[in-house]
Amino acid sequence: MSSRIAIDYRNGNTLFYFDQLTPGTMLDSFSCSISEYNDYLFKDALRSQNDHIALTWLLRERTTDSIAAYMSLIADAIKLSITEKEVHALNYPFRTIPAMKIAKLAVSNPVQGKYKGLGTYMVNKALALARLCNRQLFACRFLTVDADVEHNETVIEFYTKNGFVPNSEMNNKRTKTISMRKDIYK
Ligand SMILES: CC(C)(COP(=O)(O)OP(=O)(O)OC[C@H]1O[C@@H](n2cnc3c(N)ncnc32)[C@H](O)[C@@H]1OP(=O)(O)O)[C@@H](O)C(=O)NCCC(=O)NCCS
Repeated sequence: MSSRIAIDYRNGNTLFYFDQLTPGTMLDSFSCSISEYNDYLFKDALRSQNDHIALTWLLRERTTDSIAAYMSLIADAIKLSITEKEVHALNYPFRTIPAMKIAKLAVSNPVQGKYKGLGTYMVNKALALARLCNRQLFACRFLTVDADVEHNETVIEFYTKNGFVPNSEMNNKRTKTISMRKDIYK
């Protein structure tokens, strides 16, 4: 049996805290299995944030202050087929529906060895932020992701376990990523 600590919403909030990326953030504690995701955080995330292209949230372990995970969030819109709209009871004449996208998500290897469920915890945090936006700022019905099957072949399983489904309308010509959505209100 795994000795890793299982993270849920309650103990997650006790063991970790959320912090936005800033110019002064020390990033050296982060290391995940995919070098492109490390490079993005080290080299591109701050520039993307300054240019209002992607906003990056860090999850920090309270006892060590190390970066356990990060995600970059952006505004999105997805096209749904008539059948897909029916699934969500979205009876509107337009096909494009507003969404919020997890543009990047990664968990740090050393911390992943200690805890189970951090990826799921991050998805739940993104959902909470999307609901906050809906209450106070703007509407977005779906949380979306382009599941990066080029770098992580089985990652669709992670998103499926978290309630995401593939967008049939959006995946016609794709090979490197699979567009997926989760209804924020179901
Ligand atoms: C993908 C990632 C974010 C998942 O984080 P995590 O902390 O391991 O995820 P969780 O512990 O919350 O996993 C939830 C479930 O998904 C499963 N899962 C996680 N990653 C998986 C993968 N790559 N393939 C298949 N299943 C996976 C877990 O086994 C777990 O299943 P269980 O509930 O039946 O035990 C993390 O592995 C990571 O950072 N990978 C490198 C970067 C990456 O691929 N990012 C996503 C790009 S779209």
